Amino acid sequence: MRVYRPSLVSISTLRVLLCIESSCDETAAAVIREDGAVLSNVVSSQAALHERFGGVVPEVASRAHVPRILPAIDEALRRANVERDQLAAVAVMNQPGLVGSLLVGVTAAKALAWSLGIPLIALDHIAAHIYACQTARDESIFPCVGLVVSGGHTNLYDCRSATESRLVGSTIDDAAGEAFDKVARILGLPYPGGPSIERLARDGDPRRIELPRPLLHEPRLDFSFSGLKTAVMYAAFGAPGAKQPVPEFNEQRRADLAAAFQQAAVDVLVGKSLQAVRQFGRSTLCVGGGVACNAALREALERACSRHRLQLVISPREFCTDNAGMGGIAWDHVRAGRFADLELDVNPGLVRVPR
Ligand code: KG4
Ligand code: ZN
Repeated sequence: MRVYRPSLVSISTLRVLLCIESSCDETAAAVIREDGAVLSNVVSSQAALHERFGGVVPEVASRAHVPRILPAIDEALRRANVERDQLAAVAVMNQPGLVGSLLVGVTAAKALAWSLGIPLIALDHIAAHIYACQTARDESIFPCVGLVVSGGHTNLYDCRSATESRLVGSTIDDAAGEAFDKVARILGLPYPGGPSIERLARDGDPRRIELPRPLLHEPRLDFSFSGLKTAVMYAAFGAPGAKQPVPEFNEQRRADLAAAFQQAAVDVLVGKSLQAVRQFGRSTLCVGGGVACNAALREALERACSRHRLQLVISPREFCTDNAGMGGIAWDHVRAGRFADLELDVNPGLVRVPR
């Protein structure tokens, strides 16, 4: 049996590493240079497979990663013009996510690390979503407050550095992206819901329908989107036992509901982020995750941060939804000498820091 003994000697000449991401329904691989440059960023989306279910089906997702993972890795190397034996390390996101999906990426990464005799690096997917903002800046984005808004998470972090962050707020029920996806279903829009709602909202007027801004004025930094989703449902089809007639659920009403929901979600996300920045005395706000693609959110963040003279860094759109190019944080692990071994396991849950 060949023994796995990664060559630490090669670390002084590290040049490029491969990063693998398979935590949910995207099979992704990227080649990232030591200076942070993303040489390739391949994402093989499974969205078409999950569309008819209106959301990600974990078993379908994990099975679909298997035939996609090696082609994604090969394509990332090809686009970067890098041979496997030129890789200095392999990084993989091993938490949080769907357990079966994570296992595919982690197994591929271990096999590569073992067969090439190079170091293995374990990454936190959520930390990588914040690090995606670094691709937009030459100077360090840290320290900062980081907001991650995705299909699985809505988290606020106080980040001292790339690898030292503290969870300071999170959703107590649905994630923001999950709420976009569920509201899209209520409005009869296709999955993924975020882009569908954003498109429909352009034809709507958010002021025509009043929706709640859950927890916005509470001192805690947590979010709640489940009640907002229910409020949309009641506004669309009527609340149980309600006496007033419900306006006709026509095209204009659907567009107004999309716009009102989007505005409520944006107001809460912006408000809580500013609250966190104030609370932790930071001057930079970094925003990543799939929902950060949303133009209304990006514009509202820009307006609010310029009003409060804060530096805002939003992840470039290509690094918002799940991808491996946001794994440049792996180089910080290399510099800190933090490597994994072949015992590396997956951790589906969010790592919670006591508050
Ligand atoms: O970061 P991501 O790819 O996956 C997770 O880590 O969860 O985020 C996916 C989520 C989906 O819920 C999708 O509806 C949402 O991001 N999303 C958007 C937009 N594009 C994607 N939400 C709002 N507006 C968008 N334009
Ligand atoms: Zn994600």
